[in-house]
Amino acid sequence: MSILVRNETVEDLNQVREVLIQAFDNREDEALLVERIRRAPEFVPELSIIAQSSDGEIIGHLLISEALVIEGDKQHTVLVLAPLAVKPSHQKSGVGTLLMEEGLRRSHELGYAAVMLIGHPSYYPRFGFKPGRVYGLELKQYDVPDDVFMVCELNGLNGVTGELRYPESFEGV
Ligand SMILES: CC(C)(COP(=O)(O)OP(=O)(O)OC[C@H]1O[C@@H](n2cnc3c(N)ncnc32)[C@H](O)[C@@H]1OP(=O)(O)O)[C@@H](O)C(=O)NCCC(=O)NCCS
Repeated sequence: MSILVRNETVEDLNQVREVLIQAFDNREDEALLVERIRRAPEFVPELSIIAQSSDGEIIGHLLISEALVIEGDKQHTVLVLAPLAVKPSHQKSGVGTLLMEEGLRRSHELGYAAVMLIGHPSYYPRFGFKPGRVYGLELKQYDVPDDVFMVCELNGLNGVTGELRYPESFEGV
């Protein structure tokens, strides 16, 4: 099956919502998160990406948006990746990989230093993610195991360390 990976457009929004709800066990939380980010200053339109099958069905979605790393009185803009979703009917056939590769390629091209995420340590390292501690980065906002906070360097952190803060859109997630 040929799969098109492209930018999300306004016409796609209902189908993207459906992908998110189906991928996350019929919960609405991730769909609402994406809707909040789209309206927020951290939204980067080029980094809301969909996968579409040859019959036009949207089968996957990836959102990468801006966040801050706080280092003393300095703030550094980085990217956070969330959520990544593939319809259950199309999982394990490489769709997530296509979205990840395109998302990271675009993020690199846009000149960002790094992409960070909270995710499964058996999935993301294959795309170049390493535990945040490797770079001296911390995540205090969420009480999660150390190895699920991961970082992929793009154009280089150049010594940036500190604490990642997810924006307000993520509150309650
Ligand atoms: C995680 C997800 C995006 C992967 O997409 P996908 O299209 O199925 O992934 P791919 O086909 O590119 O890659 C398949 C690989 O991912 C692994 N994988 C799939 N889901 C996984 C998960 N939840 N945790 C760990 N590994 C997972 C598979 O075991 C497979 O590994 P292998 O290549 O070593 O056999 C998809 O399963 C999904 O939408 N899951 C529900 C939502 C979710 O958990 N999103 C991620 C958190 S934001």
